[in-house]
This record gives sequence, structure tokens and C-alpha cells, in this order.
Amino acid sequence: METQSTSHEQLVVLFLIFFFTFSSTRCFIEVESHPLPENHAAFFIFGDSFLDAGNNNYINTTTLDQANFWPYGQTHFRYPTGRFSDGRLVSDFIAEFAKLPLIPPFLQPGFHQYHNGVNFASAGAGALSETFHGSVIELKAQIKYFKEVETWLKRKLWKAEGGLILSKAVYLFSIGTNDYMSLFLTKSPFLKSHSISEYVELVIGNLTTSIKQVYDSGGRKFGFMNLPPMGCSPGLRVAGGDADGRCLEEFGAYANEHNQRLVKLLQDLEKQLKGFKYSLYDFTSSLRQRMENPLKYGLKEGREACCGTGRFRGVFSCGGRRRVKEFEACRNPNEYVFWDSYHLTESLHKELAHEMWSGSFNSHSSLKDLFQTT
Ligand SMILES: *[C@@H]1O[C@H](CO)[C@@H](O)[C@H](O)[C@H]1NC(C)=O
Ligand SMILES: *[C@@H]1O[C@H](CO)[C@@H](O)[C@H](O)[C@H]1NC(C)=O
Repeated sequence: METQSTSHEQLVVLFLIFFFTFSSTRCFIEVESHPLPENHAAFFIFGDSFLDAGNNNYINTTTLDQANFWPYGQTHFRYPTGRFSDGRLVSDFIAEFAKLPLIPPFLQPGFHQYHNGVNFASAGAGALSETFHGSVIELKAQIKYFKEVETWLKRKLWKAEGGLILSKAVYLFSIGTNDYMSLFLTKSPFLKSHSISEYVELVIGNLTTSIKQVYDSGGRKFGFMNLPPMGCSPGLRVAGGDADGRCLEEFGAYANEHNQRLVKLLQDLEKQLKGFKYSLYDFTSSLRQRMENPLKYGLKEGREACCGTGRFRGVFSCGGRRRVKEFEACRNPNEYVFWDSYHLTESLHKELAHEMWSGSFNSHSSLKDLFQTT
């Protein structure tokens, strides 16, 4: 009897401890979700494989647009997260510089708080719906998801505070490469029925619509990168079928036109949209210099990929889960510009992130300025 009543009392005490711990935690969460630090800026990410942190792990697609298998992810995470890199991406480093935690993919299951932002990017995505249609989350769909987050923020928090998070946030875009790559990698008649400048106009037109939608939700601070020289990626050097392995010049023609139109677009938006601020990173020049002078940047290889097979390891087989199963991977990805046939190594992502943050190769603001101005 004696022991039973003791254990009963112990139970009551335990229950009380639980009750108070639990209720004070709840209290803490509710209080904590209210005041954020004054200079807090969230980070929202849109675009393609250059920024996709794993959204494509959760959609119905093929391994062409996925990287959730070994040896992707071997360097930092030590497991394949879905990022098209041996480790982290530009956006992971930028979040770190901005003192934010790692920004999760929107489709990752589980509960999300969006105070710090979220990542909508999808490998293979373009600004046009036709681009790799059915295998990717196109830009329009990414914006639709963003609108859901807007609703959540404004309903969950006090409306004014949700609005403040959106207006202080930084919105990073990497989009367009796949709209042009798909011209060379697929046989879609739509894609081929336009002149270069007409086609670029469609891409820029659709990008403009998306930017304006984010602006209408309160977004003011935008980061962009221009299109990299993908015609010189190991994959397109090989696809071009040139015996000397030269860059695929036709890609360059589209990218140049796109990059010029992008400069003009951002200048126009700055005039049209009150409070619109932006940073434009010259990805092309920065990457080209590293590909041409790897030694100068402490790298050893600027043309051949670390992971893949064939000439320049330009056959897109890294991991052996796509059409071609053979692949080799180099021992030290840090010495390479390209991780696989189309994507960069973590060490390159890190260097580019430093440049975007500090403002070298940027026109207008640096990302640091965008994060730190209110
Ligand atoms: C995924 O796509 C394949 C091929 O298009 C289709 O057969 C399958 O039903 C789809 N699965 C889901 C869950 O949507
Ligand atoms: C967006 O792209 C579609 C093709 O996907 C095109 O029909 C439409 O005109 C484009 N929109 C703009 C504003 O350029």
C-alpha cells in the first residue's frame, strides 16, 4: 500500500512537471514567433539546379532532374540532399553570411516556419512552361507556392508583421539557363519556332511577370545572376559534337542576348517600381575567368568535370542512375570548376557566394547591402 501511494504521488508530480514544461514551451513558441530582431531579413530562393536544395526529390520526375544519390553531397553533408553539387550551393553560403539557418526546400515534408524564408528552386526549371515540361516546377508554379507562403505569413502572424517580413526579405533568382539549354537538348518544335531575339523576349517577358508578382506581395530587394557560359560546360562541349571540344557557340548567342536584356529590364523596373532594389551578379565573367585560368584561382581543372564519363566527363552520368551507367569521379573536387557535366563544385559555389555577398562582379548593390539595408 505504502509504495503504491508513493508511486501515485510521484505520478502526480511528474504530471505537473510535464504540464508546466509543456505549457511554458508553448508559451515560449508563441512569444518567440512574434518579435524578430530588428534587422532580420528572410531569404526566398527561386530558380533552377543552381539553387535547388532538394525540391525535385519530392516531385514526379526522372533522375535527369534529380541528384539525390551518391556521390552528390559527398563533401559537406556526407549524404545526397538533392543538390546538384558535391556539397553546398551559393544560396547555402549566402544564408550563412546573412546569419540565417540553412533554408529548406519548400516541398520537404514536415512543419515549416517561414520567418527565415524558403527555397522554391527546381532543377531543370525555366521561365517558360514549355521548358522540360512535366519534369520540373516551372517558375510560375514556384511563384504560386510563394503566394501560399505569403498567405501563411499574413494569417499566422499579425498581418503587418507578415508584410514586414516580405518587404525586408531578399529574393534571389537564377533562371533562364534551362530555357536555352532545352533548345539543344530536346526536340520540342515550339522551342525552335522562334528567332533568337523573339525567344529571349518570351523568357524575359515571363521573368518580368514573376518579378512583378513578388513585388506586388511586398518584395523589394532582388538578387539576380546573369546566365553562365553553359556552352562551355563539359556537357554542351560534347553535345556540340565538335572534335576540338570547343564551346557551343549557339548557346552563347542566346545567353549574350539574354544578359543584355536582363540589364535593361532591371534598369526599367528600378524606374517603374517604387522602392525596387536589386543586385546583378556577372556570373558569366566570373565563371569564364575561372574556366580559362584555373591556376590563378587555386584550381587545377577548368574544363573537365569531376564526375561523369567520356570526353571532358561531359556525358551526364554522375552517380550511374541516368541513361548511361558508367561514371568516374575525381579524388579532389576542390580542384575542379565543374562537379558534373553541367554543375559546379562546392568550392566554386563558395567563391561565387563570396563575390555576390561582397559585390565584386556585381552591378548595383551587393547582396550584403540588400540584406543589411532596411
Ligand atoms: C509519374 O509519372 C509517370 C510517367 O509520366 C506516370 O506514369 C505516373 O503515374 C506518375 N506518378 C504519379 C504519382 O503521379
Ligand atoms: C510567356 O511565355 C509564353 C510561352 O510559354 C508566351 O506565350 C507568353 O507570351 C509569355 N509571356 C510574356 C509576358 O512574354
